[in-house]
Amino acid sequence: TGVKPVTSLDIRQSKGDRKLTMLTAYDYSSATLVDECDIDMILVGDSLGMVMLGREDTISVTVDEMVHHTRAVVRGTKRALVIADMPFMSYETGVEDAMRNAARLFQEGGARAVKLEGGHTVVPQVQALVNAGIPVVGHIGLTPQRVASLGGFKVQGKTAEAANALLEEAKALEAAGVFCLVLEAIPAPIAARITQELTIPTIGIGAGADCDGQVLVFHDLLGLFDRFVPKFVKQYGNLREVAASAISDYKREVEDGSFPASEHSFAMPEHEKEKFEK
Ligand code: KIV
Ligand code: NA
Repeated sequence: TGVKPVTSLDIRQSKGDRKLTMLTAYDYSSATLVDECDIDMILVGDSLGMVMLGREDTISVTVDEMVHHTRAVVRGTKRALVIADMPFMSYETGVEDAMRNAARLFQEGGARAVKLEGGHTVVPQVQALVNAGIPVVGHIGLTPQRVASLGGFKVQGKTAEAANALLEEAKALEAAGVFCLVLEAIPAPIAARITQELTIPTIGIGAGADCDGQVLVFHDLLGLFDRFVPKFVKQYGNLREVAASAISDYKREVEDGSFPASEHSFAMPEHEKEKFEK
């Protein structure tokens, strides 16, 4: 008997029962690790542009790149629900583009849900995708694809007016059919209120403890990415330090001749060796 895969329906129906976990992964090995830890949802985030590819932001990530990484993650996942981010300008230009690009993440990539950023302006796209049978995750608050117009990676919704706008966006997305909603970098009381008013789960990142679930970037959680560490990140490990020490040990042992040792080397039958050495 295999494991039972998590579905978007399971996620939607879990509201109020238990806290949900989501973590990013961008390749096969990390996906196997996250999946074996029974994390509910694996997000192939467009954050891969920054943490995997070293770019300044997520703007230049392409659908091809998302498909490439999604395929690797899907190969490493047995249980978690794999969600692929729709990258910048793969859905804003209209329902048709959104459908075609989401279909690629679904069919070529093997994702079982997509995530897109934005509020009222993406409602037609969400409705069309959901009607076509593609489960959609919403994402409001700090939406990194709009970093240029937001003026940087900043907390959103700090005024009562902005908070009300976020609540309205959340309700519009729920009505459009998203099965869960990511809330990024907004004050905890607003996230709590949105969580209370919606019947779908909210997944917070920098949105306080009252969300229905939490999401973090794999490299942030493990302390593998140190270009900058946002306030909302908790580093549960320092794998950069662990890795650097292992790599330095390797260098030292190669240089002093202690690696490879005999147990890492292949022997030859004695008689063949004698013949060979003659
Ligand atoms: O791309 C990403 O990693 C994300 C999460 C931070 C929600 O969108
Ligand atoms: Na993203």
